[in-house]
Amino acid sequence: MPDEAVSLPIELIWARSKILPLIQKELPLSSFKFSLASLMQEPFNAEPPRSALVSSYVTPVELFFKRNHGPIPVVDDIERYCVDICGLIETPKKLYIRDVRMLPKYNVTATLQCAGNRRTAMSKTREVRGVGWDVSAIGNAVWGGAKLADVLELIGIPKLTSSTRSGGKHIEFVSIDKCKEENGGPYKASIPLSQATNLEADVLLAYEMNGEPLNRDHGYPLRVIVPGVIGARSVKWLDSINIIAEECQGFFMQKDYKMFPPSVDWDNIDWNTRKPQMDFPVQSVICSLEDVQTIKPGKVTISGYAVAGGDRGIERVDVSIDGGKTWMEATRFQKTGIPYIADHISSDKWAWVLFEITVDIPHTTEIVAKAVDSAANVQPEKVQDIWNLRGILNTSWHRVHVRVGHSNM
Ligand code: MTE
Repeated sequence: MPDEAVSLPIELIWARSKILPLIQKELPLSSFKFSLASLMQEPFNAEPPRSALVSSYVTPVELFFKRNHGPIPVVDDIERYCVDICGLIETPKKLYIRDVRMLPKYNVTATLQCAGNRRTAMSKTREVRGVGWDVSAIGNAVWGGAKLADVLELIGIPKLTSSTRSGGKHIEFVSIDKCKEENGGPYKASIPLSQATNLEADVLLAYEMNGEPLNRDHGYPLRVIVPGVIGARSVKWLDSINIIAEECQGFFMQKDYKMFPPSVDWDNIDWNTRKPQMDFPVQSVICSLEDVQTIKPGKVTISGYAVAGGDRGIERVDVSIDGGKTWMEATRFQKTGIPYIADHISSDKWAWVLFEITVDIPHTTEIVAKAVDSAANVQPEKVQDIWNLRGILNTSWHRVHVRVGHSNM
């Protein structure tokens, strides 16, 4: 069962929680009306309504999507809980929570996005397999914890190492939860050692989310956060860390979360031909309007989120109110009072930017958004061109249809 029943009124959930002052300041009262919509009970998967995402730069824990492949585990003896660090190292170590807390603490603002975000729209082109996410399998949080690079130094692996003396080149994260895709074994994933030992990559062993201890749904007591990379690699409920020679051979690295071309189907798929997906591509979504929505003619404020993987910033968000024939540039922002500049020291490099533009909509039309990242990558126009059988990484131009009603609205 999930930590919080989704059927609870959000007011109650809210009253139980203590939120960071930052979030309280930014969150308008209108947020109280939001709650997560459950897409699947077992395993538990849920996302907030799209309009909730643009209510605050930092997504409150209660409105953060939940993606699970198995039952959510309970860790109740925190004193005895520890992570085994083993594999291709001379001295294996048991890492207790107190060891992690002794290391320097970092707060990293990072957007976590499921690779399946916007899958439902992709399945309208041709059937795909997977949870039917709308546009909200994404959230932006302040993750607090120790850097993995510091943890690895405790076991004798220096910063900026790409290979250990015994041939370790990847760091595998193994979880406590068990899932059917692994035939009842644990959920697992890996990242390259070079990324794990790079302080700049900000890979965390996180014990806090938005200034509060992680809750069960999001990985209590310890989870990995790999900023800029699809959510599947940010393993929750960490059980062990293995130093390995090849990338993790688990299901979610080798038989899932890989990007195939539209020509590949379930009859001709060869999983070995592709690498596991890591960075997510540039994405943007309009959150202030549903598809389809009826509005009055006149001024409308269009807002949404834009995010790029790696540590690329968002250079531009273009909005069209004529189905993509002409474009206007939207305003982008992260923190109040600080102008957002892509890849600038003042910007959160792993976090989304919110965008906004006010336009005049005189008649029924299609509104479109597309973003450009700081490497000049731009979202593809058509979902058909990036269709893939697992329905991952739908980053096609985001479109919403508005019907303009002229009377009795
Ligand atoms: N870690 C474990 N142990 N089990 C899981 O099912 N799901 C992954 C990742 N880590 C998963 C996991 C996926 S696919 C995503 S998108 C993120 O967790 C979602 O994190 P959240 O539920 O905190 O939003």
